[in-house]
Amino acid sequence: MGTPLLHVDAAVKRFGANTAVAGVSLELAAGEVVCLLGPNGAGKTTTLKMILGLETPSSGRVQVAGIDVAARSGDARRRMAYIPEQVALHEAFSGIENLRYFAALVGGSSHADDHLEACLERAGLQRDAWRRRLAGYSKGMRQKVGVAIALAKKAELLVLDEPTSGLDPKSASEFTSLIRNLAQGGAGVIMATHDLFRAKDMATRILILKDGRIVRTLDPNASTYRDVEEAYLGVFEGSE
Ligand SMILES: Nc1ncnc2c1ncn2[C@@H]1O[C@H](COP(=O)(O)OP(=O)(O)O)[C@@H](O)[C@H]1O
Ligand SMILES: [Mg+2]
Repeated sequence: MGTPLLHVDAAVKRFGANTAVAGVSLELAAGEVVCLLGPNGAGKTTTLKMILGLETPSSGRVQVAGIDVAARSGDARRRMAYIPEQVALHEAFSGIENLRYFAALVGGSSHADDHLEACLERAGLQRDAWRRRLAGYSKGMRQKVGVAIALAKKAELLVLDEPTSGLDPKSASEFTSLIRNLAQGGAGVIMATHDLFRAKDMATRILILKDGRIVRTLDPNASTYRDVEEAYLGVFEGSE
């Protein structure tokens, strides 16, 4: 085995007396899609933020392509794209202007318009929106700009935090296909979601988190939708 694309080793994050993540370990290879399921407060977002270098682990460590994220966050972040629930973009700029700005921010160099347009095209953003101000974009359209940024920076690892919550089913389905294509093209994907069915459809591995720990690991290919739901609901038994 070579160096995994992502290696989270016994990561712990405490906020004062509250332990948000209580020792999470996982590995992810290129082409894999890991879905994190779990109730609100389970530690999904904090885990993703440690991966991104936005939160420093209290103990344990995270490596992306062998790079220690806490020690070399800039180098690590260049290899990742983050798509949070609300993609933070500049409202007064158009889709292509946002893409140009954020792609240059990470790459350090500017990209030609035809390259940026190819990224928007691949991300599935309709052409007539490319030069319209973000202020008029739907949530699904903003997510597509987020995907275009990931494409422009050639991110090896996509970190997605509830990207389809609040999307209508058609947009969510388009988004899912897009991410699946990126994984088939060799990107690694780690995604927190509340959508059990989509997790079963797109994940190569499902991890269920509760109280900051991974309490179940499921192979979606060997599980039915009902299995995933039962596993999810099962982690609450005896705890309420
Ligand atoms: N910046 C923070 N300061 C204090 N507590 C936090 C902070 N971020 C998250 N937490 C706490 O950590 C726990 C896990 O939160 P989070 O990682 O957001 O869970 P999830 O994404 O699974 O809903 C929660 O109890 C939350 O209140
Ligand atoms: Mg969260």
